[in-house]
Amino acid sequence: MAYIDFSDKYSVGIETIDKQHIKLINLINTFFEAMKAGKGGETLKPTLAELIKYTQFHFSSEENYMQKIQYSRYGEHKHKHEALVAKILEFQHNLENEISGQAVLLLGFLKEWLTEHILVTDKAYSQSFIENGIR
Ligand SMILES: [Fe+2]
Repeated sequence: MAYIDFSDKYSVGIETIDKQHIKLINLINTFFEAMKAGKGGETLKPTLAELIKYTQFHFSSEENYMQKIQYSRYGEHKHKHEALVAKILEFQHNLENEISGQAVLLLGFLKEWLTEHILVTDKAYSQSFIENGIR
């Protein structure tokens, strides 16, 4: 069983965004599998780097859509994105410095964050996106 399973409850009704969320979930699952298999930092570090890169791509694509439709909660949403990126970079720093227990803490954090990100903050914009023709 995967660490996080994508199901209908996670759909925001916009195919482009759902696909990006699935990719994020897959990257988190890959990180989980690597950790479970006892893979060390040499595997975990590049996996995390890829996850960070994709998260930034995903956020900028959401922000671009928000700007395009002049979404009223753009500032608030962007602020959440920045806070999250800062937090994962802090985990990355700790992982680089071999601080023990970081991978487990990071996974718990990512699962909770992703669920909240999709179910609360992203679901809040889905209607506005759909009304503005974003698919
Ligand atoms: Fe999102």
